[in-house]
This record gives sequence, C-alpha cells and structure tokens, in this order.
Amino acid sequence: MIVDKIGRKFRNLRVSLTAACNYACDYCVPNGKRLSKASNELSANELFRAVFLLKKAAGIEKLRITGGEPLISPKFDRFLAEVMELGLEDVSLTTNGQFLSDKLSVIESCGIKRINVSLDSLNPVRFRQIARGGDLSKVMGGIDSALKAGIKIKINMVPMFSKNYSEILPMLEYCLARNIELRYIELMRMGHLASGNSFARDFVSMGSILDKIGEMYDFHRIDVPHDSTAQVFSVGENLGKFGIIPNESEPFCRACTRLRISSDGYLYGCLSSANRHDLKDIVCLDEKEALVMLEKKLIGALGDKKLSFQGETTVMKFIGG
Ligand code: 5AD
Repeated sequence: MIVDKIGRKFRNLRVSLTAACNYACDYCVPNGKRLSKASNELSANELFRAVFLLKKAAGIEKLRITGGEPLISPKFDRFLAEVMELGLEDVSLTTNGQFLSDKLSVIESCGIKRINVSLDSLNPVRFRQIARGGDLSKVMGGIDSALKAGIKIKINMVPMFSKNYSEILPMLEYCLARNIELRYIELMRMGHLASGNSFARDFVSMGSILDKIGEMYDFHRIDVPHDSTAQVFSVGENLGKFGIIPNESEPFCRACTRLRISSDGYLYGCLSSANRHDLKDIVCLDEKEALVMLEKKLIGALGDKKLSFQGETTVMKFIGG
C-alpha cells in the first residue's frame, strides 16, 4: 500500500470518461463555449484496464464515473458493464442529469445504486443562465425516474451570490421532499475563477449557507468518515440530511484519498496541481510489468497532493471534480 508522510493513501478513484459536455456552466468555462472531447481519449477497454490495475496497485475501493458529462460518451455502456465486474465496494456516477432517463435502464441493469446530479437551479431561466445548455424539465424527469427505480440521489448545487443564492432554501425543500441528499459545494477557484474577481463576488461560504438554512430549519452536524469531503447535517426531527463541501471554509486536503484519471489517460493526484502521470504506455502492458510501472506513477501522484487547496487553472473543467 502506498501511503504518504501524513497517512494519505488512494481509496477513491474518479474516472472522467470524456472531457466533452453538453453544458457550459459559467463556473466551469468562461466564454460559454462547450468543452469537446480530447483528441486522444482512451477507449472504454483501456480505461477499464487502468481501473483494474489501479485496484490492484493502489487498493482502490470506490469508483465514481464523471466527465465532462459521462452519459454523452459512447463508451459509457461498455465501461460501466466492465467495471461492475471488478467487485469494487462502490461504483457511482456524477451527471448533469440531462440524459438520465434515456440511460436509466443501462444504469439499473448494471447495478449502480447511487447517482450525484449536478443541479444549480430549479428556475428554468436561471438554470439556462448558469448551465448555458440543457433543459431543466429533462433533469427533473431523470431524477424522478431514478428515484422510482430505487436509486439513491444526491444533488450537487454550487451556490453563487449573483446567481442562485436565493435558491439555497427552495433547493433544500425540493430535496427533503424527495429523500434526496443535497450537497452544497462551495465555489472553488478553478479554471478562470483562479484569477479575476468573479470568485470573490460569487463565493458563498459554509457559514452563509448555514445561516440561510437556519432561517427555516433546525439542524445539527453529524459524524462522517474521516476522508469525507462533505460536512453532513441532519435537519429537524428526521426531515432528512444535507451536506456542505467546504473547500474554502474547512479544507479537507489533509485527509484526501482521491485519485483521478482524465479521459486522455493521465493520473492526477490532486485537483490543486496540474502535475499528471501518463498511463497510456501502461494499459497495454502485461499485468506484472504494468504494476511495477504503475507503482512509481502512484508515488508521484501521491506526492502531488497539496496540504491546502490553492486553486488550479486547468484541471477541473476536463476532469469534472
Ligand atoms: N466550484 C465548485 N464546484 C464546481 N463544480 C465544477 N466546477 C466547480 C467549481 N469551480 C462541481 C459541479 C459538479 C461537481 C462534480 O463539481 O457542479 O456538480
């Protein structure tokens, strides 16, 4: 097992199936231009091989499939079916929900039990202003069908002062009524937000989110696993739960167990570092040789982990957080 000086190791892997996205969220891309796929994406089979090797070499237990938007990738069905055979503790998915209804039968039949849907507004006009693509009613329909199928849903919302601050409570009500766990994500200084003044203008802290919720609900903090990125709160007498991912207010870098693979086959050990480690030459090797080389790359990736989040200009937009 590869462990660093402060005890961090890799347990959670995030695989970006594609950098392409059918949205152009304004915290992700500055100019409304949608991201397209990398010219040298790994195939479903190569990505699967990378996960297989990482499970052995790093002891990966949990996998999250992300993008870009993973459900628009033609590799989705095949990759999902393959990784479900690996016997990981948990396989989950982060999606913008636009094609959730269309893909539900594949998702269900492969046995995915948990999905995070990124949704920043319940108001169709504001939704379009933030996402600059997609259709709110399709997302809501997708969420309803997934819930009906017994899949556990979390919603990721990034509160921003100039955009959706007024929806902090309505979004919580929507989620509590459906047994959905809402995750408020503090805005991160990624991509174009790492410079300029939109970050300072729009950043809503955990404290402000809790103040807003306190206007309407009683809540208390509950225990979470040591490497959880979220602080989780229980609402009222059993009304449900919500979480806050306090990237800035209470950084969790010192307990981070995440490892990422970009769609073009690089390992990233830290969202706050542009350092990356090429896997393309490894996925085609036989297992023994591959594991020896992979171990070196994992030591490199673990060494990239920072002690605090300092912002990074390139990484998030094509590896989906
Ligand atoms: N700050 C906070 N959250 C972000 N996400 C993408 N970019 C940012 C950012 N700059 C979120 C998306 C998605 C999750 C994986 O990361 O909304 O829900």
